[in-house]
Amino acid sequence: MIHLQSKKSGLNGTIDVPGDKSISHRAIMFGAIAEGITTVKNFLYGADCKSTIECFRKLGIKIEEQDGEIKIHGNGFDGLKEPVEILDVGNSGTTTRLIIGLLAGRPFHSVIIGDDSIAKRPMNRVTDPLKQMGATIHGRRGANYTPLSIVGSTLHPIQYRLPVASAQVKSCLLLAALQTEGETTIIEPASTRDHTERMIKQFGGNLTINENTIKISGKQKLVASDIQVPGDISSAAFFMVAAAIVNESKVILENVGLNPTRTGIIEVLQKMGASIDVKENTLSNFEPSGTVTVKTSNLQGIEIGGELIPRLIDELPIIALLATQASGKTVIKNAEELKVKETNRIDAVVKELSILGAKIEATEDGMIIYGKTPLKGGKVKSYGDHRIGMMLSIAALICEEDVYIEGAEAVSVSYPNFFEHLHYLTKK
Ligand code: S3P
Repeated sequence: MIHLQSKKSGLNGTIDVPGDKSISHRAIMFGAIAEGITTVKNFLYGADCKSTIECFRKLGIKIEEQDGEIKIHGNGFDGLKEPVEILDVGNSGTTTRLIIGLLAGRPFHSVIIGDDSIAKRPMNRVTDPLKQMGATIHGRRGANYTPLSIVGSTLHPIQYRLPVASAQVKSCLLLAALQTEGETTIIEPASTRDHTERMIKQFGGNLTINENTIKISGKQKLVASDIQVPGDISSAAFFMVAAAIVNESKVILENVGLNPTRTGIIEVLQKMGASIDVKENTLSNFEPSGTVTVKTSNLQGIEIGGELIPRLIDELPIIALLATQASGKTVIKNAEELKVKETNRIDAVVKELSILGAKIEATEDGMIIYGKTPLKGGKVKSYGDHRIGMMLSIAALICEEDVYIEGAEAVSVSYPNFFEHLHYLTKK
């Protein structure tokens, strides 16, 4: 339980948020299946990415951690060896779904488990298409839930239209497709984060992308690369919102990833009328990044839905808080995926923000928030979900009274130094 006091004015300073979670996971995975030594700088040392490192060590990959830099000794797909231990993915959905795609094509047996949250998250979105490719996967309720047991098989290419817009499913299938003889086609209902596609190119692989259709051939040779991970825009989002809603604030966020498949939060802040400035660093083919400056803002409610949702899916809890401080009504729709995240984020956000005095209601596929509402304070909980814990900690800044958060330590999943940054920005 942590106790936070209101800070009604003055959030000031410059911070460098930690490395991007999605890119950090993928850097380990691609480093493991490429030939040679991959180095990764600004890797995110959060609990989820540490789970990925541990799983790949159990798969026989040498991974060195030296002076904040990671070295992965890859030896192609064949460098992965049958694990004698169970692979524990902890709380990480990305580790689970991507590693299944990789292991489905390896000629050995492996078992995956995770924590209580992972055990409730649907895996048939990856195990069903993998079975179509020839995979043998067993698990609870038709391989929908962990623990999962995988007996590697020879996979064959498929044409697959994703029923949900999910980068994890797309990436899982790309990792499986790389092990097949022939060309796999993946069609997305809306574009989702493209870190895997960029990573494949960065490691010397090939794929073609035509609007929402991706074609990839198997049996490509991937070669080791040097990866510089940009800061995580999903972590930066908490302080972008904090600066916008706390009086007399100006926060500068440096080295923030600005991949266009992730910048929905910036568009929402702009549409709501926030004072936000974005300066891109010199262009990078790999992953763009830049500096984002946000100041206290007068905000208006807006409607958020459709193709924007996958571009800000992880930011919806903090956007809900932002909307409580915008005049008028904010509607979030087409976001039913929130129900199958680390916790049911529609229920968690609505319940906990209501305790703090927000006017917010759940809908079938999102939520409706009425602002501008002063928040009062109280006892709330994170449900073990890092993003709910961080959202509530930012809410505490504008509450009239003290806030007590149960399970706030979950922030270490994606932002281990979140409270240090919060303290630094509020102390001036
Ligand atoms: C992620 C994709 C998203 C996102 C998650 C990370 C990824 O999940 O919510 O935090 O790294 O591919 P879905 O693919 O389930 O939408």
